Amino acid sequence: MCGIVGAVAKDNIVPVLLEGLLRLEYRGYDSAGIVVANGKLHRVRTTERVAELAKLVSIEKTEGLTGIAHTRWATHGVPCERNAHPHFAGNDKKIAVVHNGIIENHEVIRRRLQEAGFEFLSDTDTEVIGHLISLHLEITRDLREAVCLAAAELQGAYAIVVIEEERPDRIIAARNGAPLLLGLSKNGNYAASDASALLQVTRRMVYLEEGDVAELTSSNYHVINITKNKLGEKVRRVELETDLTREAVELGPYAHFMQKEIFEQPVAIANTLEMVFNAHSLSPRLFGSEAESVFQKTSGILILACGTSYHAGLVAMHWLEAISGLPCSVEIASEYRYREPIANPDTLVVGISQSGETADTLAALKYAKSRGHRYSLAICNVPESALMRQTDLRFLTRAGPEIGVASTKAFTTQLVALMLLAAVFAKLRKKISEKLEQKLIDGLRHLPIAMQLALQIEPQIIEWAKNFSHKRHALFLGRGVHYPIAMEGALKLKEISYIHAEAYAAGELKHGPLALVDKEMPVVAIAPNDSLQEKLKSNLQEVRARGGELYVIADADSSIQESEGVHIIRLAEHAGMFSPILHTIPLQLLAYHVALQKGTDVDKPRNLAKAVTVE
Ligand code: G6P
Repeated sequence: MCGIVGAVAKDNIVPVLLEGLLRLEYRGYDSAGIVVANGKLHRVRTTERVAELAKLVSIEKTEGLTGIAHTRWATHGVPCERNAHPHFAGNDKKIAVVHNGIIENHEVIRRRLQEAGFEFLSDTDTEVIGHLISLHLEITRDLREAVCLAAAELQGAYAIVVIEEERPDRIIAARNGAPLLLGLSKNGNYAASDASALLQVTRRMVYLEEGDVAELTSSNYHVINITKNKLGEKVRRVELETDLTREAVELGPYAHFMQKEIFEQPVAIANTLEMVFNAHSLSPRLFGSEAESVFQKTSGILILACGTSYHAGLVAMHWLEAISGLPCSVEIASEYRYREPIANPDTLVVGISQSGETADTLAALKYAKSRGHRYSLAICNVPESALMRQTDLRFLTRAGPEIGVASTKAFTTQLVALMLLAAVFAKLRKKISEKLEQKLIDGLRHLPIAMQLALQIEPQIIEWAKNFSHKRHALFLGRGVHYPIAMEGALKLKEISYIHAEAYAAGELKHGPLALVDKEMPVVAIAPNDSLQEKLKSNLQEVRARGGELYVIADADSSIQESEGVHIIRLAEHAGMFSPILHTIPLQLLAYHVALQKGTDVDKPRNLAKAVTVE
């Protein structure tokens, strides 16, 4: 969840490191820091944002050809300058290290290093890595070997980049369980947590694999792997041109990435569906070449995910059971991995993750395998992510990079992928006719336009937002497949506006939450024209009777009428089975505009980070 950049080049690397950090700031923003080798190791750190770091660096006129930089999401030790990366290591402070991940055996190693006379200046597990490298360096006299030997002792997840005062012509990078890639150019070589940081200098990338250690100079690089041999064996890694464009990771005319990403949804969905539109049919091959034979054996689905991706899984449960007749369960990955579930080997495990890096989701998938599940499928937005490499089958959502911490376009493209999954199973299990299949494809073809129309309700949402910005609590109600959409709406509002928001299945209202309802409690209801609408209307009456202010998101031809205390926004059309996808849009816009009115940091809400690579 932290962001790392390292550079060794023929020109001053400071602007590259700072620009890289800006691109990675969404990964964590508790503090930022940089170390540049120019005779000595020169360090600047701050608990402010990267923009502030850049000011400090320019005041100090820091320049050099080699350096490392970091933006932090605190795990070990509070966010303060002392705990900010890079950390110096060795009592002579001749090594500097940046790290993303968590070292699980840091306490044992720390004690050993303290006994050996190393002095600790921070509360971080990262300093343990640095001193351990330093300890090995005293013997090996070679930084790369020292990194290999230290890495072999570490348990947990790490991506690290290290530089040394004595040899400022190189950087050493190592990864295990946290993402790290290299960027290659004529002018120099680089390392970063993700490609967006390096697009400024190159499109040529090498994705490091588990146990890789890379040594980079300004004109060369090589990679070794330490999985079998502590000192490493030479390996070749593919060099590839990334598809990512600078435009995709820049704000353009938008005020925030979240706003950009909300409005990109029609295109993101069209891109995700491109393969279906080209094929004119729903083929299991959408999920990989082996999918058909796996799906033929599949007798149930288990979905594992976290956060917004978990909500997508809950929607999918309704679709999978209703459309394809397959039993489906959905579990929060961090809970599943610590219980003793009964596994049916023929239940396909589906991991959903925007980033493909979420530690709990990755661990839950591994655990499911160890419990006896035979096959797994990833639904993910990052092609080179750990999740995509871990599963037997995969579907890439084509949302493009999502930078706002609150997930938007990743969610709706996940829903599209899951709808396809349900439809493919329905076809295989002969639950839908050819005619119905074509109708479904036509519906999918229309979806980007329907999304475009749904986005037009923004002015009405802005009006609603004025009534929320001074509230302290809000309730979100939904029924059936729209209950998870209510959960997603509540999550969006709480994470970026800090208003306490809870979602309830509307039928549960009278079992407790109704006690909270009074005129101070805005209640948002997701009320499409589905078979549960009449039931929902009764639940809404219960709210109104207690003075609760209702904000109802209905379909165009809904019979729900506006009255005192009942505000209604009607979507342009009734989307049938795609309704959960369309009904998400007003909720995303509501959270966005409430946050704007409250003046919170929309893209970087307090205490959160985009990709949660730690437990
Ligand atoms: C973090 C993000 C959420 C996201 C969740 C799961 O909490 O802030 O937006 O839903 O992680 O992330 P994933 O990448 O696995 O979908």
